[in-house]
Amino acid sequence: MRERVIINDVGPRDGLQNQPKILSSAEKILLIESLLAAQISHIELGAFVSPKAVPAMAGTDQIVAAFDKDQAEFSVLVPNQKGYDMALAAGSSTMAMVAYATQGMAQKNVHMSREQAADATIAMAAQAKQDGTTLLATIATSFECPFDGMADPGIVADATARFLDLGVDMVVIADTIGAGNPGQVRSLMNRLVRENSADKLACHFHDTRALGMANVYAALESGVRRFDASIGGLGGCPFAPGASGNIATEDTVMMLEQMGFDTGIDLDALMRASDLAVELTGTAPGGRAKAWLKPHLAKQHLNKNDNLK
Ligand code: COA
Ligand code: ZN
Repeated sequence: MRERVIINDVGPRDGLQNQPKILSSAEKILLIESLLAAQISHIELGAFVSPKAVPAMAGTDQIVAAFDKDQAEFSVLVPNQKGYDMALAAGSSTMAMVAYATQGMAQKNVHMSREQAADATIAMAAQAKQDGTTLLATIATSFECPFDGMADPGIVADATARFLDLGVDMVVIADTIGAGNPGQVRSLMNRLVRENSADKLACHFHDTRALGMANVYAALESGVRRFDASIGGLGGCPFAPGASGNIATEDTVMMLEQMGFDTGIDLDALMRASDLAVELTGTAPGGRAKAWLKPHLAKQHLNKNDNLK
């Protein structure tokens, strides 16, 4: 049996939060429906953040209300307690709280210190247990920060262990600006897998320096089996200068499937979702693989039809 790798598509959140064009709720719902049609099992639907800070994430409550919980594992990003409370009230059952490896990013993103954000994460983990919700903690700028420079792997390791000990369900190691290289990823993820458990860890990469797939490979070698990716390679953080698109779901799924892993994702339907992301935003780069993958899939179908004759 092929080994499963989970892809969590963060396109509707990380992908859309920084686009020049703000999508309507109806357009966001269309995009999410196309991801569901591609059998994507994990999707980040949006964020409960200040609409003044991130206008593109306004209306996330409508997006949450538009989907049934049994369609996929839906999550939403929350930056603080208020975001958690709003997400809970909207009916979300998985919240992704953001913590930080560096002070600069914490201050710029949420006007908190790294320690304040970590304490808020731990308080939220306790509340999540009471509420019966799942709490993910993303550690932003785990490799490099646009304000403070290199992150300290020891800080990331301590935060990861503390979060998991104190009830966070999963820690997502995020390369917010896409500055990490495969050597750094292997070293950090080897340590985190050794000190914790691979099934409590995920990675979130941006493809800024074209190292996204190499970084996925390095993390896979360390034992990580869950990755955030974004349809069309959309993405970027408005508060992290230099952050460009996330790794494209298209590239990630193609690489994993060709390596013999099972993502459960339907590549034909994924191409349609990718086309829709381009159509809706006008900017989605579409990843690197699509230019080869789309005609290749079409040719495969043609050959299959030939065989049937
Ligand atoms: N959702 C919606 N509104 C929120 C909120 C949340 N999670 N947290 C705070 N607010 C509102 C407050 O109610 C207040 O509203 P008002 O101006 O109408 O009174 C305002 O935001 C400021 O609140 P305050 O507690 O002073 O927060 P702040 O100014 O220190 O921080 C944040 C504002 C953190 C809410 C805002 O910067 C934010 O939403 N950042 C998110 C960043 C983000 O999404 N980054 C990308 C993903 S990592
Ligand atoms: Zn990101």
